[in-house]
This record gives sequence, C-alpha cells and structure tokens, in this order.
Amino acid sequence: AASQSAVHGAPGRVLELLGKSYPQDDHTNLTQKVLSKVGRNLHNRKFHPLWLIKERVKEHFYQQYMGRSRTPLFSVYDQLPPVVTTWQNFDSLLIPADHPSRKKGDNYYLNREHMLRAHTSAHQWDLLHAGLNAFLVVGDVYRRDQIDSQHYPVFHQLEGVRLFSKHELFAGVKDGESLELFEESSRSAHKQETHTMEAVKLVEFDLKQVLTRLVTHLFGDGLEVRWVDCYFPFTHPSFEMEINFRGEWLEVLGCGVMEQQLVNSAGAQDRIGWAFGLGLERLAMVLYDIPDIRLFWSEDERFLKQFRLSDINQNVKFQPLSKYPAAFNDISFWLPSENYTENDFYDIVRTVGGDLVEKVDLIDKFEHPKAVGNSVLDTQETTIMADVQNEQSSSSAPQLLKLACLATCETHRTSHCYRITYRHMERTLSQREVSSVHQAVQEAAVQLLGVEGRF
Ligand code: FA5
Ligand code: MG
Repeated sequence: AASQSAVHGAPGRVLELLGKSYPQDDHTNLTQKVLSKVGRNLHNRKFHPLWLIKERVKEHFYQQYMGRSRTPLFSVYDQLPPVVTTWQNFDSLLIPADHPSRKKGDNYYLNREHMLRAHTSAHQWDLLHAGLNAFLVVGDVYRRDQIDSQHYPVFHQLEGVRLFSKHELFAGVKDGESLELFEESSRSAHKQETHTMEAVKLVEFDLKQVLTRLVTHLFGDGLEVRWVDCYFPFTHPSFEMEINFRGEWLEVLGCGVMEQQLVNSAGAQDRIGWAFGLGLERLAMVLYDIPDIRLFWSEDERFLKQFRLSDINQNVKFQPLSKYPAAFNDISFWLPSENYTENDFYDIVRTVGGDLVEKVDLIDKFEHPKAVGNSVLDTQETTIMADVQNEQSSSSAPQLLKLACLATCETHRTSHCYRITYRHMERTLSQREVSSVHQAVQEAAVQLLGVEGRF
C-alpha cells in the first residue's frame, strides 16, 4: 500500500485522470486514496444526504428567485470537473502569488499547473465570463488537512453568485433613479474604493437575507445565526455565517461583496455582486445528526437506506450504527532536517489506514535539548565535551566523533508523537489487524518522509 502513496511526485511519469493526461513534476502530490474519490460525485448520487441538501437548496432558489418571464433566476452547475488550473483556483480570485493558501502542504496538485479545486470559487470567473448573472455551483473539493470527525480530504461545497445592474439593485428604492453603483473614493472596513456606500449596503443586505432565508428553509424557524467579519482576497467586505448547534457556534459558510476587479476582469464591469460558499457536509451533519464525516463515503446499506425519503424536505435524524470499540496506537519519530509537513504524514495515514482511521492527534512535540554550551548535556557527554575543548585524549575517537556530531548537525532535532485512533464503522477490529496497519503506517512514514522511527 505504501508504494501507492505519491506524496512526492515522480517527474517523467504521467498521471491519468478523468480521461486526461498530466505530466508529473515536483508539485505532484496526489495520493491513490484521494484519486479514488475523484468521480464518486456523492452530491449527484440520488438520495445521498449531500444530494438531498443540494436538491433542497436548488428547490428553494428556484421557487424564491424568479428572473424575467418567471423562469428561475439562478442556474445550477453540478457537473464541473474538479481538475482546475492554479489560475482558476487562485489567480482569477486575486489570490497573491505568495499567498499561504497555495502551499503544496495544503493542496492536491496534479502538477505545477493543475490541481484538484480547493473550493468551488475556482469556477466564479469562468461562469461570469460566460455572461451569467446568477448561478449556483456544487462540487467536490480537495484539501490536505488534519484528520478528525469534522475533516476529510474531500468535501463538498455549494457556491452562489449574484450580480446586479444599477437598475436591478435600486429598483425597490424610492427615488432611487439618482443612485449610483460606482464612485472613486477610498477603501474602508465597510466597502471597496470603487463602490458607493448605498450600493454596498443593499448588496450586503440582500446577501445576508438570501442566506438567512436559506438556512431557515433548511432548519426551520428558531435557528440562532450570527455574522462574523472575516477576510477573503476575492470579497470585501467579507463575512462568515455561524449557526448555533447544541450550544456551539459552527461556521457553515463564507461570503461577501465580490471584489470589483474580479467582476471587471470577467467582463461584467457595469455590475456589482455578492458570492458565498458553503460546506455541504457541515450542514448535513447538523441537519441529519451525522456524527462523523467518514460516514458520507459509506456504502453500508444501514447508512444509505436511512435517506431514501419520498420527500426531500422530510425531516430525518440519522440512527447511528452501533459504535464499535476504538484502538489507540502511538507513533513517534524524528523529523527529517527539512521538508517535513504534518499534512504529508496525515496523507500517509489516510492512504495506508484508509477509513479505519478515525483521528490522528499530534500529542507530543519534543525538541532535542542538546546544544553546545548548554547545561543539559549529561555527565558523560560533559566530560567528553571538556575533553574536546581541552584537546585531551581521555575519550575514545568514536566518542569524540559522536560528540562532534551532537554538537553540530544533530542538535535541536525534533520528534513528533502522534496518536492514531483506529475504529471501523461497521465491526470490531482485531488487535492483529490494527497492529499490521499501524506497522504499515510506520514503514510508509520511514520510506516516504525520511523520518527516523522511534518505534
Ligand atoms: C472558502 O472556501 C471560500 N471559497 C468561500 C467563499 C466563497 C467566500 C465565495 C466568499 C465568497 P472556507 O475555506 O472558509 O472558504 O470554506 C467555506 C466553507 O466550507 C466553510 O465555512 C465550511 O462550511 C466548509 N469547509 C471548509 N473546510 C472544510 C473541511 N475541511 N471539511 C468540511 N467542510 C469544510
Ligand atoms: Mg472558513
């Protein structure tokens, strides 16, 4: 299994995906595990909980927002392939060349130019450029991330974009004919330099109202919602919506007034707009009481059958499959001197351990305290150290060599200890099974990351 993990690419070889070929290079970091999810399209699978939410959102938008001639205002795109260019995922959205979100450690790259989209915003520019004024995009998105019940390397987003002409935006305002969308002023916390305050406030109000109505449609009245200011390079002002779920504030979406530079570059310079992107798993977990994000990938009938509803708006609460016992195994290793990222290790655990892995926690970081002139050297080493400094020879040559090494290259090595929680969703794991997977994880980490095991 370890050899299938392409955490570091194989330049010269070609990667085939969805009928196209991509030459690998030093950016390639797709794993087999993640590749196997491409094309599953859970959001298009009838009766899957992610499909149910998508259908409910579509129905809501179709019914609530009509265009001229009473046809739906928003068009829906849920079949756009997840392979995009880095230009689509980043540059088109004004994400700077040196922005941390481009890191190899956070994304799945096919090569320097192509990646699995990290968000559905990657399609905004193309759809605007095609002339659309109102659309929804639903799709699978890919991110290298931590491992727990809320995070999985593949999840699903639903994006919404709406542009307004001056006439549309001010149509409902009494004596609105004299209002303008644009002016030359300066950027503040509330607006962009090219926007008028009146336009921004109306767009922001519409955005928040559309989204509040949407979650009220999904969850019913009485849901507690709050708006938190935040930052995205492609919107300003920007907000996150949080909903109160069992006493905790849970972030479900990001949104904002679209950066005018993006809108202009896509050819809609006479319009102003809003955009939002929400996480479908987050909503589904709350709405259907689904406790673990891995369940969305289950082929178990006991999971799937609970969502075969005759009416998509029917209320269901997931009845958990009985929880089988967990097994905890720790793994410690010295990090290589460079090029280690925690996400490389998480990928390996996912690839080798698959869905048997419930969670990985970094439980201990330890930096080797030995350093020249430091009082933490143990007695024997202190003696040798003194010998070296005094050029005496009471210590043997190998001892001196060891010390020289300690004093230079090997000081300040870092060791990480991770606790891996193994649990099968559908049966009890035997200790032998867990041990053999855990050993494979150890071997893969040594082979692929160049760590030195402390097993
Ligand atoms: C974005 O992805 C922006 N593209 C959203 C956006 C669109 C902003 C349009 C402005 C305009 P963010 O990384 O916060 O933002 O993700 C958006 C939502 O996706 C989150 O609120 C959350 O619901 C969901 N999400 C993010 N990361 C994960 C994850 N690892 N697992 C499950 N859901 C996630
Ligand atoms: Mg966020």
